[in-house]
Amino acid sequence: MASDALVTRGLTRRFGGRTAVSALDLRVQEGDVYGFLGPNGAGKTTAIRCMLGLIGRDAGEVEIFGEKDPVRQRAHVGAMVETPAFHKWLSARDNLRRATAFAGQGTAADIELALERVGLQGRADEKVQGYSLGMKQRLGIARALVGKPRLLILDEPTNGLDPRGMREIRDLLLELARRDRLTIFVSSHLLGEVEQLCSRVGILERGRMVAEGTVEELLRRSGAAVTEVDLECADAVALGRALEGIAGVSVVGDGEGDRLRVRLDGLSPAELNQRLVQAGVAVSALVPVVKSLEDLFLTLTSQELT
Ligand SMILES: Nc1ncnc2c1ncn2[C@@H]1O[C@H](COP(=O)(O)OP(=O)(O)OP(=O)(O)O)[C@@H](O)[C@H]1O
Ligand SMILES: [Mg+2]
Repeated sequence: MASDALVTRGLTRRFGGRTAVSALDLRVQEGDVYGFLGPNGAGKTTAIRCMLGLIGRDAGEVEIFGEKDPVRQRAHVGAMVETPAFHKWLSARDNLRRATAFAGQGTAADIELALERVGLQGRADEKVQGYSLGMKQRLGIARALVGKPRLLILDEPTNGLDPRGMREIRDLLLELARRDRLTIFVSSHLLGEVEQLCSRVGILERGRMVAEGTVEELLRRSGAAVTEVDLECADAVALGRALEGIAGVSVVGDGEGDRLRVRLDGLSPAELNQRLVQAGVAVSALVPVVKSLEDLFLTLTSQELT
């Protein structure tokens, strides 16, 4: 069984009268790519700062690879919280040299390895001033990597990036998880991103954890199985007529593109296809509409919490 990489119990942080993080329990196992999902203001950054000991907590405890002592915890963790700041007149490499000297962690070889991992080795002598946002995010990840952590904690690492930049960071994180066997804890308010990247997910809403599990578990729990299918057919009239004669299927409306969306009730997509063929209607595409985490997220975060 995988051991626990990061556990919080009852983690609580208040700002004045406002509770930003409320009795947060979460568990990240070694090898997870864990998505910490929540809308703006949910308390993700505050929770991460508490976990890292960057701010104090009002209650609760944090365990990292079984360690309760913050100093010993730090040896296992590399982190990037919000947009990383650098000395812009220094090169990327010199920034990492400063950071390692300051932290007393990481050798020249570690710096080169980290730069290579994030794909910046070829441009590491350029001043950070000229770096794009995506390059700065990579450099932030490199800085998190130089201490050779087992756990990477990243707060919205794709924030502000264009789709290509987001994809590159996602690919990088997946590679770090697979090739370097890093456990990754990554916050995001972007549901699609978490779905594509993470093996496990925790959903935070107003400082509380409202759901935690694998993406599949959460979808199953929300009852979001494939119940809708988009159909494409050259003869829409014939398709409509055939559908009327088939029990267990009803037209919902327009699907993707020119497709027609239908809801299945006790009928599998394969059975529907078979019935349509029997009715003399050939569909050129039959695409199951997979409910996304977004449906679950919206359901959970729109409920009034007690
Ligand atoms: N230093 C602070 N002083 C007072 N309130 C704060 C402070 N930091 C955070 N908060 C409050 O705590 C709550 C959670 O904020 P936090 O930044 O942790 O959310 P978040 O989930 O990271 O949001 P985002 O997606 O916008 O980054 C908010 O209501 C915020 O206003
Ligand atoms: Mg935040």
